Amino acid sequence: MEIKGSDTLLLDYSGDALAIACYEDQVELTGDLATLNEQFSGVIADVIAEEEFKGKSESLVFTRVSGKVSKIILVGLGKESELKLDSLRNAAAAIARLAKKYKIKDIGIALPVVEDNAKTAEALTEGLILALHHDTRFKSESEDKPAVLETVSLLGLGDQAEAIDKAHKICSGVILARELVTAPSNVVTPITLAETAVNIAQEYGLEVEILEQEDCEKLGMGSFLGVAKASDLPPKFIHLTYKPAGTPRRKLAIVGKGLTFDSGGYNLKPTGSGIETMKMDMGGAGATLGAAKAIAQLQPDVEVHFISAATENMISGKGMRPGDILTASNGKTIEINNTDAEGRLTLADALVFAEKLDVDAIVDLATLTGACIVALGDDIAGLWSNNDNLTKELEKAACQAGEKIWQMPLEEKYWPIMKSDIADMKNTGSRSGGSITAALFLKQFIKQTPWAHLDVAGPVWADKEAGVNNKGATGFPVKTLVNWVLS
Ligand code: BES
Ligand code: MN
Ligand code: ZN
Repeated sequence: MEIKGSDTLLLDYSGDALAIACYEDQVELTGDLATLNEQFSGVIADVIAEEEFKGKSESLVFTRVSGKVSKIILVGLGKESELKLDSLRNAAAAIARLAKKYKIKDIGIALPVVEDNAKTAEALTEGLILALHHDTRFKSESEDKPAVLETVSLLGLGDQAEAIDKAHKICSGVILARELVTAPSNVVTPITLAETAVNIAQEYGLEVEILEQEDCEKLGMGSFLGVAKASDLPPKFIHLTYKPAGTPRRKLAIVGKGLTFDSGGYNLKPTGSGIETMKMDMGGAGATLGAAKAIAQLQPDVEVHFISAATENMISGKGMRPGDILTASNGKTIEINNTDAEGRLTLADALVFAEKLDVDAIVDLATLTGACIVALGDDIAGLWSNNDNLTKELEKAACQAGEKIWQMPLEEKYWPIMKSDIADMKNTGSRSGGSITAALFLKQFIKQTPWAHLDVAGPVWADKEAGVNNKGATGFPVKTLVNWVLS
């Protein structure tokens, strides 16, 4: 599929199909739409009336015509006053799905400009590519017939080769994250995650270091290794580095939780708890590697470290027991009162490692708590930070990306429940405020670097198709991370 910006205006386009936008409650036959309606002897007015098309976000109507084009699609953008880049992304996604369904070969898309022509082209390209991505790797015979779209012309935007190329690169990262999360735990293991990092490094000329168990032992990563103990697979501590050609404008670290499976350990996840979905517990690592793939191609003037302490949380005679005490690489001791709160244990050593790199900011991403899903639902990630500036940067990056994050409090008053009689801290508190105490736990492993924690337990997976997401892994929050690094 070739996507290109074009100087052609909607009334001059000829091809298989034409897609035109309407705002909610403003579906009026004026201007170009009126001209088009006349050209096609009133069929547009007919389809609007018959289908009671109101221009609601992501709604579509479709009609066949004969003339310069043979299909016309009207796509709803939602309210004009609420128009943003994500409205375009979602409209493009809806158009792409319809184009697939009706086997459209070429299409001209006429949507309004948001911010500027380049940002508009970028958002539309993202919507088209991400909506058409379906993972059929694990089907012996797929019922999913790929789209036959050959050319998409973004009408009236002029040459947007650069913006479209940028979107392709970002989407390649989103798709990598989706594929890593989609693949089951017997396919994507800590070894696979490490190999993926090495492959990215080789393909795009990044530095990569994979710390093996002995290396982690030498660094005193007792917290990470405590989790890894029960697994028959070797733990892999992944450190991938992108360095720009000149002096970096900033140095950043992205740290992803990389549990390729979370059984809960001795505090085994019971049936009904979603244990069978716990392949997605490496969503943070998947997004970290996805962001690395995109950043490696976009080549910003920023140094970025991509880090994940990858392992599985399993059960065995060698595994950590409830009540055990682990010592993290910053010397702090942790009494394990629940082996299912394992993500924070792996992140503890990863955060200590990241801070030693002397970076300007650290962002971690983790499918950390069910409590965050209870608080914010399936679509919104929780954000905790020790730095207002970093919070603002991430909020802006997420808004541009169309990925939802919501700031939560790092409430110190909730810390005492995590105190242990015998060690420096316990690894879990009470059920209430569970995503907050988890964030406070992580904070123990950061000294003074600006740091933000994103609990992405909800949005890494979608139960239904919506916007640019299809059912399954979403690649959240690769787009946000890329925007943040580029900002
Ligand atoms: N990986 C889970 C969190 C999770 C739950 C992610 C649901 C995605 C969907 C995490 O390791 C975990 O088990 N957290 C526990 C913490 C509790 C033991 C304090 C939880 O949320 O129940
Ligand atoms: Mn767990
Ligand atoms: Zn987990």
